[in-house]
Amino acid sequence: MSHVKQRLHFSLFFGIILTYLGLGGYCMKHVKTEVLVPGMVVATDVIANGKQLVFPKGYKLTERAIARLEGYGIRDIRIEDPVDLNIEVEEIPEDEVADSMPTAASMDSLLSALSSLDFLQEERTAEEAPAATPDDGSDSSASAAKESPKISVTQQEEPSHFEKLKASKEFQSFKQSFSKNVDSLRANLNEIVEKNTPINVDHMIGDTMMIISNQGSTFGVFDMLHNMRDFDDLTFAHSMNVAMICNVFARWLRFSEEDVKTATACGMMHDIGKLKIDDAIIKKPGKLTAEEFRAIQSHPVEGYRILQPQNIDMHIKLSALEHHEKCDGSGYPMKLTGDKIDSFAKIVAIADIYDAMTANRVYREGMCPFRVIETFEEEGFHKYEVAYIMKFLENVVNTYIDNRVMLNDGRIGTVRWINKQRLSKPMLEMTDGTFLELGKERGLRIDKIL
Ligand SMILES: [Fe+2]
Repeated sequence: MSHVKQRLHFSLFFGIILTYLGLGGYCMKHVKTEVLVPGMVVATDVIANGKQLVFPKGYKLTERAIARLEGYGIRDIRIEDPVDLNIEVEEIPEDEVADSMPTAASMDSLLSALSSLDFLQEERTAEEAPAATPDDGSDSSASAAKESPKISVTQQEEPSHFEKLKASKEFQSFKQSFSKNVDSLRANLNEIVEKNTPINVDHMIGDTMMIISNQGSTFGVFDMLHNMRDFDDLTFAHSMNVAMICNVFARWLRFSEEDVKTATACGMMHDIGKLKIDDAIIKKPGKLTAEEFRAIQSHPVEGYRILQPQNIDMHIKLSALEHHEKCDGSGYPMKLTGDKIDSFAKIVAIADIYDAMTANRVYREGMCPFRVIETFEEEGFHKYEVAYIMKFLENVVNTYIDNRVMLNDGRIGTVRWINKQRLSKPMLEMTDGTFLELGKERGLRIDKIL
Protein backbone atom coordinates (compact mmCIF):
# COMPACT_ATOMS: atom_id res chain seq x y z
CA MET A 1 0.00 0.00 0.00
CA SER A 2 1.45 3.41 -0.94
CA HIS A 3 2.08 6.12 1.65
CA VAL A 4 -0.63 8.24 0.09
CA LYS A 5 -3.09 5.42 0.33
CA GLN A 6 -2.04 4.71 3.89
CA ARG A 7 -2.55 8.35 4.77
CA LEU A 8 -6.01 8.26 3.22
CA HIS A 9 -6.82 5.11 5.14
CA PHE A 10 -5.87 6.82 8.38
CA SER A 11 -7.72 10.02 7.64
CA LEU A 12 -10.83 8.14 6.55
CA PHE A 13 -10.58 5.85 9.54
CA PHE A 14 -10.25 8.69 12.05
CA GLY A 15 -12.88 10.72 10.18
CA ILE A 16 -15.34 7.89 10.59
CA ILE A 17 -14.39 7.26 14.20
CA LEU A 18 -14.70 10.97 15.08
CA THR A 19 -18.02 11.15 13.28
CA TYR A 20 -19.18 8.03 15.07
CA LEU A 21 -18.23 9.52 18.38
CA GLY A 22 -19.97 12.76 17.46
CA LEU A 23 -16.74 14.76 17.54
CA GLY A 24 -16.41 15.50 13.87
CA GLY A 25 -19.36 17.84 13.59
CA TYR A 26 -17.70 21.19 13.21
CA CYS A 27 -17.87 23.10 9.90
CA MET A 28 -20.83 21.10 8.70
CA LYS A 29 -24.56 21.56 8.42
CA HIS A 30 -27.58 19.30 8.31
CA VAL A 31 -29.40 19.93 5.10
CA LYS A 32 -32.66 18.49 3.84
CA THR A 33 -32.19 16.27 0.77
CA GLU A 34 -34.79 18.26 -1.14
CA VAL A 35 -32.70 21.44 -0.98
CA LEU A 36 -29.35 19.85 -1.80
CA VAL A 37 -27.70 21.10 -4.96
CA PRO A 38 -24.96 19.58 -7.11
CA GLY A 39 -21.51 20.63 -5.94
CA MET A 40 -22.16 20.32 -2.20
CA VAL A 41 -19.70 18.06 -0.42
CA VAL A 42 -20.81 15.30 1.94
CA ALA A 43 -19.36 15.97 5.41
CA THR A 44 -19.83 12.50 6.91
CA ASP A 45 -20.36 9.06 5.45
CA VAL A 46 -23.92 8.60 4.30
CA ILE A 47 -25.08 5.19 5.44
CA ALA A 48 -28.46 3.67 4.64
CA ASN A 49 -30.25 0.98 6.59
CA GLY A 50 -27.62 1.22 9.30
CA LYS A 51 -24.96 -0.60 7.27
CA GLN A 52 -24.92 0.26 3.58
CA LEU A 53 -22.46 2.93 2.55
CA VAL A 54 -24.18 5.19 0.02
CA PHE A 55 -21.57 7.97 -0.25
CA PRO A 56 -18.35 8.45 1.68
CA LYS A 57 -17.32 11.63 3.44
CA GLY A 58 -15.88 14.06 0.91
CA TYR A 59 -18.14 12.91 -1.93
CA LYS A 60 -19.18 15.78 -4.18
CA LEU A 61 -22.89 15.62 -4.92
CA THR A 62 -24.27 15.48 -8.45
CA GLU A 63 -27.88 15.63 -9.60
CA ARG A 64 -27.78 11.85 -9.93
CA ALA A 65 -26.34 11.41 -6.46
CA ILE A 66 -29.10 13.55 -4.94
CA ALA A 67 -31.67 11.41 -6.74
CA ARG A 68 -30.02 8.33 -5.20
CA LEU A 69 -30.39 9.82 -1.72
CA GLU A 70 -34.08 10.36 -2.42
CA GLY A 71 -34.28 6.78 -3.67
CA TYR A 72 -32.89 5.55 -0.35
CA GLY A 73 -35.44 7.66 1.50
CA ILE A 74 -32.66 9.67 3.17
CA ARG A 75 -34.29 12.91 4.24
CA ASP A 76 -31.23 14.92 5.19
CA ILE A 77 -27.48 14.65 5.38
CA ARG A 78 -24.54 16.56 6.79
CA ILE A 79 -22.72 18.64 4.24
CA GLU A 80 -19.57 20.69 4.56
CA ASP A 81 -20.28 24.24 5.64
CA PRO A 82 -22.06 25.79 2.67
CA VAL A 83 -20.67 29.19 3.64
CA ASP A 84 -17.41 27.97 2.14
CA LEU A 85 -19.25 27.06 -1.02
CA ASN A 86 -21.13 30.35 -1.26
CA ILE A 87 -24.42 28.45 -1.15
CA GLU A 88 -27.12 29.57 1.26
CA VAL A 89 -29.09 26.75 2.81
CA GLU A 90 -31.54 26.42 5.63
CA GLU A 91 -29.98 24.43 8.43
CA ILE A 92 -32.10 21.84 10.25
CA PRO A 93 -32.04 22.19 14.04
CA GLU A 94 -30.14 19.29 15.68
CA ASP A 95 -33.22 17.99 17.52
CA GLU A 96 -35.06 17.51 14.23
CA VAL A 97 -32.41 15.40 12.60
CA ALA A 98 -31.77 12.74 15.18
CA ASP A 99 -34.12 10.28 13.46
CA SER A 100 -32.38 10.41 10.13
CA MET A 101 -28.88 9.79 11.41
CA PRO A 102 -27.45 6.29 11.03
CA THR A 103 -28.26 5.35 14.61
CA ALA A 104 -28.33 1.64 13.82
CA ALA A 105 -24.77 1.71 12.56
CA SER A 106 -22.57 -0.27 14.89
CA MET A 107 -18.81 0.21 15.13
CA ASP A 108 -18.45 -3.13 13.32
CA SER A 109 -20.55 -2.10 10.38
CA LEU A 110 -18.72 1.21 10.11
CA LEU A 111 -15.40 -0.58 10.07
CA SER A 112 -16.79 -2.99 7.50
CA ALA A 113 -17.97 -0.06 5.41
CA LEU A 114 -14.45 1.32 5.61
CA SER A 115 -13.07 -1.80 3.96
CA SER A 116 -15.20 -1.18 0.89
CA LEU A 117 -13.60 2.21 0.33
CA ASP A 118 -10.45 0.76 -1.22
CA PHE A 119 -11.60 1.41 -4.75
CA LEU A 120 -12.30 5.03 -3.91
CA GLN A 121 -8.82 5.48 -2.56
CA GLU A 122 -7.36 4.16 -5.83
CA GLU A 123 -9.06 7.12 -7.48
CA ARG A 124 -8.06 9.60 -4.83
CA THR A 125 -4.48 8.40 -5.04
CA ALA A 126 -4.51 8.92 -8.77
CA GLU A 127 -6.03 12.36 -8.67
CA GLU A 128 -5.05 13.56 -5.19
CA ALA A 129 -8.51 15.10 -5.19
CA PRO A 130 -10.65 15.62 -2.11
CA ALA A 131 -13.93 14.55 -3.69
CA ALA A 132 -14.44 10.87 -4.49
CA THR A 133 -16.56 9.91 -7.46
CA PRO A 134 -17.78 6.33 -7.12
CA ASP A 135 -20.34 6.76 -9.88
CA ASP A 136 -17.70 7.39 -12.49
CA GLY A 137 -15.34 5.13 -14.33
CA SER A 138 -15.02 1.43 -14.69
CA ASP A 139 -11.39 1.26 -13.61
CA SER A 140 -12.35 1.62 -10.00
CA SER A 141 -14.72 -1.31 -10.28
CA ALA A 142 -11.93 -3.78 -10.96
CA SER A 143 -10.32 -3.26 -7.57
CA ALA A 144 -13.69 -3.43 -5.84
CA ALA A 145 -14.23 -6.85 -7.37
CA LYS A 146 -11.01 -8.25 -5.94
CA GLU A 147 -12.03 -7.72 -2.34
CA SER A 148 -15.47 -8.76 -1.24
CA PRO A 149 -16.87 -6.10 1.03
CA LYS A 150 -18.22 -7.10 4.38
CA ILE A 151 -21.32 -4.95 4.10
CA SER A 152 -24.24 -7.32 4.18
CA VAL A 153 -27.25 -6.30 2.16
CA THR A 154 -30.46 -8.18 2.65
CA GLN A 155 -31.43 -7.84 -0.96
CA GLN A 156 -33.81 -10.73 -1.23
CA GLU A 157 -35.91 -9.98 1.80
CA GLU A 158 -36.54 -6.33 1.01
CA PRO A 159 -39.03 -5.35 -1.68
CA SER A 160 -37.21 -4.26 -4.82
CA HIS A 161 -36.99 -0.63 -5.84
CA PHE A 162 -39.65 -1.19 -8.50
CA GLU A 163 -41.93 -3.06 -6.12
CA LYS A 164 -41.74 -0.12 -3.74
CA LEU A 165 -42.21 2.34 -6.59
CA LYS A 166 -45.23 0.53 -8.00
CA ALA A 167 -46.87 0.50 -4.58
CA SER A 168 -46.27 4.21 -4.06
CA LYS A 169 -48.91 6.94 -4.24
CA GLU A 170 -46.62 8.87 -6.59
CA PHE A 171 -46.67 6.04 -9.11
CA GLN A 172 -50.45 5.71 -8.97
CA SER A 173 -50.83 9.42 -9.58
CA PHE A 174 -48.23 9.33 -12.40
CA LYS A 175 -50.14 6.45 -14.01
CA GLN A 176 -53.42 8.35 -13.77
CA SER A 177 -51.97 11.54 -15.25
CA PHE A 178 -50.20 9.54 -17.95
CA SER A 179 -53.46 7.83 -19.02
CA LYS A 180 -55.30 11.15 -19.04
CA ASN A 181 -52.54 12.66 -21.16
CA VAL A 182 -52.64 9.76 -23.61
CA ASP A 183 -56.40 10.31 -24.01
CA SER A 184 -55.98 14.00 -24.76
CA LEU A 185 -53.08 13.27 -27.13
CA ARG A 186 -55.32 10.81 -28.98
CA ALA A 187 -58.03 13.50 -29.31
CA ASN A 188 -55.50 16.17 -30.36
CA LEU A 189 -53.74 14.07 -32.99
CA ASN A 190 -57.02 12.82 -34.46
CA GLU A 191 -58.29 16.40 -34.74
CA ILE A 192 -55.11 17.53 -36.48
CA VAL A 193 -55.33 14.67 -38.98
CA GLU A 194 -59.06 14.86 -39.62
CA LYS A 195 -59.76 18.59 -39.40
CA ASN A 196 -56.35 20.15 -39.92
CA THR A 197 -56.86 21.99 -36.63
CA PRO A 198 -54.07 24.54 -35.97
CA ILE A 199 -51.53 23.11 -33.52
CA ASN A 200 -50.83 25.00 -30.31
CA VAL A 201 -47.58 23.34 -29.21
CA ASP A 202 -47.51 24.90 -25.73
CA HIS A 203 -51.04 23.71 -25.10
CA MET A 204 -50.29 20.22 -26.42
CA ILE A 205 -47.22 19.63 -24.31
CA GLY A 206 -48.33 21.62 -21.23
CA ASP A 207 -49.67 18.75 -19.13
CA THR A 208 -46.79 16.48 -20.09
CA MET A 209 -44.25 19.11 -19.06
CA MET A 210 -46.10 19.40 -15.75
CA ILE A 211 -46.05 15.62 -15.10
CA ILE A 212 -42.33 15.54 -15.83
CA SER A 213 -41.48 18.48 -13.60
CA ASN A 214 -43.49 16.85 -10.79
CA GLN A 215 -41.07 13.91 -10.81
CA GLY A 216 -38.28 16.03 -9.37
CA SER A 217 -35.45 14.44 -11.33
CA THR A 218 -34.93 13.05 -14.82
CA PHE A 219 -34.22 9.64 -13.29
CA GLY A 220 -37.59 9.77 -11.56
CA VAL A 221 -39.30 10.07 -14.94
CA PHE A 222 -37.39 7.08 -16.28
CA ASP A 223 -38.24 5.06 -13.19
CA MET A 224 -41.92 5.78 -13.74
CA LEU A 225 -41.78 5.06 -17.46
CA HIS A 226 -40.01 1.76 -16.87
CA ASN A 227 -43.03 0.66 -14.88
CA MET A 228 -45.53 1.87 -17.46
CA ARG A 229 -44.69 -0.91 -19.90
CA ASP A 230 -48.14 -2.48 -20.10
CA PHE A 231 -49.84 -0.07 -22.50
CA ASP A 232 -50.06 -2.15 -25.66
CA ASP A 233 -50.62 0.88 -27.83
CA LEU A 234 -48.36 1.40 -30.79
CA THR A 235 -49.34 4.99 -31.44
CA PHE A 236 -50.65 7.13 -28.59
CA ALA A 237 -49.07 5.68 -25.45
CA HIS A 238 -45.90 5.09 -27.47
CA SER A 239 -45.89 8.73 -28.59
CA MET A 240 -46.38 9.89 -25.00
CA ASN A 241 -43.48 7.67 -23.86
CA VAL A 242 -41.27 8.99 -26.64
CA ALA A 243 -42.23 12.58 -25.79
CA MET A 244 -41.21 12.05 -22.16
CA ILE A 245 -38.01 10.25 -23.09
CA CYS A 246 -37.13 13.06 -25.54
CA ASN A 247 -37.76 15.62 -22.80
CA VAL A 248 -35.46 13.85 -20.36
CA PHE A 249 -32.90 13.12 -23.09
CA ALA A 250 -32.78 16.80 -24.13
CA ARG A 251 -32.13 17.74 -20.48
CA TRP A 252 -29.29 15.20 -20.30
CA LEU A 253 -27.89 16.91 -23.41
CA ARG A 254 -28.23 20.24 -21.58
CA PHE A 255 -30.58 21.74 -24.17
CA SER A 256 -32.18 25.13 -23.44
CA GLU A 257 -35.67 25.06 -21.92
CA GLU A 258 -37.10 26.12 -25.29
CA ASP A 259 -35.33 23.24 -27.05
CA VAL A 260 -36.47 20.81 -24.34
CA LYS A 261 -40.05 21.84 -25.19
CA THR A 262 -39.38 21.41 -28.90
CA ALA A 263 -37.87 17.94 -28.32
CA THR A 264 -40.95 16.99 -26.27
CA ALA A 265 -43.25 18.13 -29.09
CA CYS A 266 -41.11 16.29 -31.67
CA GLY A 267 -41.52 13.06 -29.69
CA MET A 268 -45.24 13.64 -29.25
CA MET A 269 -45.97 14.09 -32.95
CA HIS A 270 -43.29 11.91 -34.57
CA ASP A 271 -45.68 9.07 -35.47
CA ILE A 272 -48.70 11.19 -36.43
CA GLY A 273 -48.47 9.70 -39.94
CA LYS A 274 -49.48 6.31 -38.53
CA LEU A 275 -53.01 7.68 -38.22
CA LYS A 276 -53.21 7.54 -42.00
CA ILE A 277 -52.30 3.81 -42.06
CA ASP A 278 -54.89 1.07 -41.73
CA ASP A 279 -55.11 0.13 -38.05
CA ALA A 280 -55.22 -3.58 -38.91
CA ILE A 281 -51.73 -3.28 -40.44
CA ILE A 282 -50.36 -1.26 -37.51
CA LYS A 283 -51.65 -3.82 -35.02
CA LYS A 284 -50.87 -6.95 -37.04
CA PRO A 285 -48.75 -9.14 -34.77
CA GLY A 286 -47.40 -11.55 -37.40
CA LYS A 287 -45.14 -11.04 -40.37
CA LEU A 288 -46.15 -8.24 -42.72
CA THR A 289 -46.57 -8.73 -46.46
CA ALA A 290 -44.39 -6.59 -48.73
CA GLU A 291 -47.36 -4.32 -49.41
CA GLU A 292 -48.17 -3.93 -45.71
CA PHE A 293 -44.53 -3.21 -45.00
CA ARG A 294 -44.54 -0.45 -47.65
CA ALA A 295 -47.70 0.99 -46.10
CA ILE A 296 -46.04 1.12 -42.65
CA GLN A 297 -42.93 2.68 -44.11
CA SER A 298 -44.99 5.47 -45.61
CA HIS A 299 -45.89 6.90 -42.18
CA PRO A 300 -42.94 9.36 -42.00
CA VAL A 301 -43.93 10.97 -45.31
CA GLU A 302 -47.61 10.93 -44.33
CA GLY A 303 -46.67 12.59 -41.04
CA TYR A 304 -44.70 15.31 -42.80
CA ARG A 305 -47.64 15.96 -45.15
CA ILE A 306 -49.96 16.41 -42.19
CA LEU A 307 -47.61 18.75 -40.32
CA GLN A 308 -46.20 20.65 -43.30
CA PRO A 309 -48.95 23.35 -43.48
CA GLN A 310 -48.90 23.92 -39.71
CA ASN A 311 -47.26 26.98 -38.18
CA ILE A 312 -44.91 25.00 -35.90
CA ASP A 313 -41.15 24.61 -35.42
CA MET A 314 -39.47 22.99 -38.43
CA HIS A 315 -37.77 20.40 -36.16
CA ILE A 316 -41.21 18.95 -35.33
CA LYS A 317 -42.02 18.48 -39.01
CA LEU A 318 -38.57 17.04 -39.77
CA SER A 319 -38.75 14.67 -36.82
CA ALA A 320 -41.94 13.18 -38.27
CA LEU A 321 -40.21 12.80 -41.63
CA GLU A 322 -36.74 11.65 -40.56
CA HIS A 323 -37.09 9.67 -37.31
CA HIS A 324 -36.48 6.37 -39.14
CA GLU A 325 -33.37 7.61 -40.93
CA LYS A 326 -30.06 6.17 -39.70
CA CYS A 327 -26.68 7.91 -39.69
CA ASP A 328 -25.14 5.15 -41.85
CA GLY A 329 -27.78 5.69 -44.55
CA SER A 330 -29.61 2.42 -43.82
CA GLY A 331 -32.87 4.07 -42.74
CA TYR A 332 -35.95 5.27 -44.59
CA PRO A 333 -37.69 6.99 -46.37
CA MET A 334 -34.79 8.91 -47.94
CA LYS A 335 -31.74 6.92 -46.76
CA LEU A 336 -30.19 10.12 -45.44
CA THR A 337 -26.76 10.00 -43.82
CA GLY A 338 -25.80 11.55 -40.47
CA ASP A 339 -24.98 15.09 -41.54
CA LYS A 340 -28.28 15.41 -43.45
CA ILE A 341 -30.57 14.25 -40.66
CA ASP A 342 -32.23 16.87 -38.44
CA SER A 343 -30.67 16.89 -34.95
CA PHE A 344 -34.05 16.60 -33.20
CA ALA A 345 -35.02 13.71 -35.48
CA LYS A 346 -31.84 11.94 -34.31
CA ILE A 347 -32.97 12.32 -30.70
CA VAL A 348 -36.46 11.06 -31.51
CA ALA A 349 -34.93 8.09 -33.37
CA ILE A 350 -33.08 6.94 -30.25
CA ALA A 351 -36.04 7.52 -27.91
CA ASP A 352 -38.36 5.77 -30.39
CA ILE A 353 -36.28 2.61 -30.77
CA TYR A 354 -35.56 2.41 -27.03
CA ASP A 355 -39.27 2.61 -26.21
CA ALA A 356 -40.26 0.17 -28.95
CA MET A 357 -37.74 -2.42 -27.77
CA THR A 358 -38.55 -2.19 -24.06
CA ALA A 359 -42.37 -2.06 -24.42
CA ASN A 360 -44.51 -5.12 -23.85
CA ARG A 361 -46.60 -6.19 -26.80
CA VAL A 362 -49.39 -8.75 -27.04
CA TYR A 363 -47.07 -11.02 -29.03
CA ARG A 364 -43.85 -10.52 -27.06
CA GLU A 365 -42.51 -9.31 -23.76
CA GLY A 366 -40.44 -6.12 -23.81
CA MET A 367 -36.68 -6.49 -23.85
CA CYS A 368 -34.74 -5.85 -20.67
CA PRO A 369 -33.18 -2.35 -20.90
CA PHE A 370 -29.69 -3.86 -20.40
CA ARG A 371 -30.28 -6.14 -23.43
CA VAL A 372 -31.38 -3.06 -25.41
CA ILE A 373 -28.24 -1.23 -24.29
CA GLU A 374 -26.14 -4.23 -25.37
CA THR A 375 -27.79 -4.12 -28.80
CA PHE A 376 -27.02 -0.40 -29.08
CA GLU A 377 -23.42 -1.09 -28.02
CA GLU A 378 -23.08 -3.78 -30.67
CA GLU A 379 -24.64 -1.97 -33.59
CA GLY A 380 -25.77 1.46 -32.51
CA PHE A 381 -22.72 3.59 -32.92
CA HIS A 382 -22.78 3.91 -36.68
CA LYS A 383 -26.56 4.08 -36.90
CA TYR A 384 -27.06 6.86 -34.36
CA GLU A 385 -25.29 10.11 -33.56
CA VAL A 386 -22.42 8.93 -31.34
CA ALA A 387 -22.48 11.87 -28.89
CA TYR A 388 -26.24 11.46 -28.45
CA ILE A 389 -26.30 7.69 -28.10
CA MET A 390 -23.43 7.72 -25.58
CA LYS A 391 -25.11 10.36 -23.44
CA PHE A 392 -28.40 8.48 -23.63
CA LEU A 393 -27.03 5.05 -22.73
CA GLU A 394 -24.83 6.32 -19.89
CA ASN A 395 -27.78 8.05 -18.30
CA VAL A 396 -30.18 5.16 -18.84
CA VAL A 397 -27.73 2.81 -17.12
CA ASN A 398 -27.35 5.28 -14.28
CA THR A 399 -31.08 5.23 -13.67
CA TYR A 400 -30.71 1.53 -12.80
CA ILE A 401 -27.99 1.93 -10.14
CA ASP A 402 -29.14 0.22 -6.94
CA ASN A 403 -31.80 -1.74 -8.81
CA ARG A 404 -32.05 -5.47 -8.26
CA VAL A 405 -31.56 -7.51 -11.40
CA MET A 406 -31.69 -11.15 -12.44
CA LEU A 407 -28.93 -12.71 -14.55
CA ASN A 408 -29.54 -15.23 -17.34
CA ASP A 409 -28.32 -17.98 -14.96
CA GLY A 410 -31.04 -17.05 -12.45
CA ARG A 411 -28.79 -15.37 -9.90
CA ILE A 412 -29.82 -12.06 -8.37
CA GLY A 413 -27.67 -9.02 -7.74
CA THR A 414 -27.85 -5.28 -7.34
CA VAL A 415 -26.36 -2.85 -9.85
CA ARG A 416 -23.64 -0.96 -7.99
CA TRP A 417 -21.16 0.57 -10.44
CA ILE A 418 -21.23 1.41 -14.09
CA ASN A 419 -18.63 0.04 -16.49
CA LYS A 420 -18.18 2.88 -18.98
CA GLN A 421 -16.47 0.59 -21.49
CA ARG A 422 -19.39 -1.87 -21.43
CA LEU A 423 -22.48 -0.06 -20.26
CA SER A 424 -24.63 -3.18 -20.51
CA LYS A 425 -22.28 -5.02 -18.12
CA PRO A 426 -22.17 -3.16 -14.82
CA MET A 427 -20.62 -4.32 -11.55
CA LEU A 428 -23.14 -6.17 -9.41
CA GLU A 429 -23.29 -6.85 -5.73
CA MET A 430 -24.61 -10.38 -5.38
CA THR A 431 -26.94 -11.61 -2.65
CA ASP A 432 -24.03 -13.27 -0.81
CA GLY A 433 -22.21 -9.91 -0.57
CA THR A 434 -19.61 -10.69 -3.26
CA PHE A 435 -19.10 -8.48 -6.29
CA LEU A 436 -19.45 -9.67 -9.86
CA GLU A 437 -17.85 -7.79 -12.73
CA LEU A 438 -20.20 -8.67 -15.58
CA GLY A 439 -17.81 -7.26 -18.18
CA LYS A 440 -15.38 -10.06 -17.36
CA GLU A 441 -17.94 -12.86 -17.40
CA ARG A 442 -18.50 -14.33 -20.83
CA GLY A 443 -22.05 -15.42 -21.55
CA LEU A 444 -23.52 -13.73 -18.48
CA ARG A 445 -25.96 -10.90 -18.94
CA ILE A 446 -28.74 -9.11 -17.12
CA ASP A 447 -32.04 -10.64 -18.13
CA LYS A 448 -34.48 -8.76 -16.00
CA ILE A 449 -34.81 -5.73 -13.76
CA LEU A 450 -36.74 -6.82 -10.68
FE1 LIG B 1 -42.25 5.82 -36.57
